[in-house]
Amino acid sequence: MRRRQFLKSTIASSIALLSAGSLSAKSLKLRALIKGQPLTNFTPITVNDGKAVLNIEQTEIVLSKDGSPTEVWNYSSGYGNMFDVFEGDNLEITMNNQLPEATTVHWHGIDVPADQDGDAHGVFDTETTRTVNFSIPQASAGSYWFHPHPHMRTAFQVAQGLAAPFIVRSKDDPIAALGIRDIPLFFTAPMLDGNLQIAEQTMSEQMNGRSGNVVLVNGQYLPVLDAKNGETLRLRLFNASNGRFLRLSFSDSEIVQIGTDGGLLVSPLSPASTILLAPAERAEVLVRFEAETTLTALTYEKGFMGGMMMGGTPAESKDVDVMSVQVSGDTIAPIDIPTTLRAIEQFGDAVVTRQFTLSENMGMSVSGMTMDFMINGKTFDMNRIDFTAKQGEIEMWEIINKTDMDHPFHIHGNQFQIVSITENCEETPFPFLCWKDTVNTKKGQTVRLKLQQNQVGNRMFHCHILEHEDLGMMGQYEVVA
Ligand code: C2O
Ligand code: CU
Ligand code: CU
Repeated sequence: MRRRQFLKSTIASSIALLSAGSLSAKSLKLRALIKGQPLTNFTPITVNDGKAVLNIEQTEIVLSKDGSPTEVWNYSSGYGNMFDVFEGDNLEITMNNQLPEATTVHWHGIDVPADQDGDAHGVFDTETTRTVNFSIPQASAGSYWFHPHPHMRTAFQVAQGLAAPFIVRSKDDPIAALGIRDIPLFFTAPMLDGNLQIAEQTMSEQMNGRSGNVVLVNGQYLPVLDAKNGETLRLRLFNASNGRFLRLSFSDSEIVQIGTDGGLLVSPLSPASTILLAPAERAEVLVRFEAETTLTALTYEKGFMGGMMMGGTPAESKDVDVMSVQVSGDTIAPIDIPTTLRAIEQFGDAVVTRQFTLSENMGMSVSGMTMDFMINGKTFDMNRIDFTAKQGEIEMWEIINKTDMDHPFHIHGNQFQIVSITENCEETPFPFLCWKDTVNTKKGQTVRLKLQQNQVGNRMFHCHILEHEDLGMMGQYEVVA
């Protein structure tokens, strides 16, 4: 929905919410969903001589026990396809837009030339084709993903199902050398209606982000992952939801984090019982399964606007099971986790410091409630370049959250290093060195990070709650030589 439409439809929808509520609409019955199927693995998209074809299409998946289809939009025939390539690979991807509207394909987190990156400027129309070329930078192995980015349609198109993993591997990976299984867990949080169709966006979702009424893993509801007793798995966790915060926990296993958005850490973190992934964040973890285990998304306090009047409580206010792990066979001994994973060079002193203040503005006007999500007091404008930066220069960015909720801040074209987090006037250095392209900022926090853009061109930065991005919490800048 465009912003103007949003303003107009607001009165009507608030009245509808207050009076009829959801009484008339058939609401989702979770027991109608197929569950307990073996977890599906993603299939690598064929890359021949560096060339790949990506069909962007309307298709169907079956979530319902009665076999009735759920209409989704997807990349190359249904859920379950991903890019799986190596550092240094040269790619030429031909994308066929078979959707009823224009789209773009953004290579989230990968340092590709700005004009090949399919941001809001890379739109190509329905029934047309676009070919992009880029090479995967050396030393960039990590768990990336791709999704649409047309301004004001991003939240809608991703909610329809357009998002998939983009794994970049290294030929020299100490975890791959262990020979353990490497499994992507790609989380989405669709909002399904009573007919198991993707529901229309509500006002509450525009304010808070769509956190859905179900959490799917690799497109499946409550799938089962089969493991050997005592098996250690490398799991790549992707939060590909529009706006759901996932605080994940395995009932009977600890999580050893070994990687972030941009790949492996310098060394593994201490075992933990939970891991938080804000929308768009990824993590690589090692988990050893010694008993039947449930993966649960635990409650998380993200700051929620509107309350009952605007459409109930946030999805993150209760624990939700998302997958189970079954173990069988003789017990496998624990593996020796390497203590050194790779080298990461810490950025030196920044040449420039920039501030990005996140704010929100809600008010009433004659046409209903108005809402803006802003960066430095402005909403996004396709024709405005917010500033210019120099290629290769190290910059310090300070993300200052002056709103009432969490916003995961994302920058295109690079991986950054988090320097510190300031809360209640107390600055805490970030505890470990890692590569990130998305960082959560909580209400009242200031997050400092350092980055460097290696290539010239236009780059965007925005909140990765996609509804906020569409409502204007985005900017763009020009990197010059
Ligand atoms: Cu994943 Cu600009 O986005
Ligand atoms: Cu991105
Ligand atoms: Cu936001």
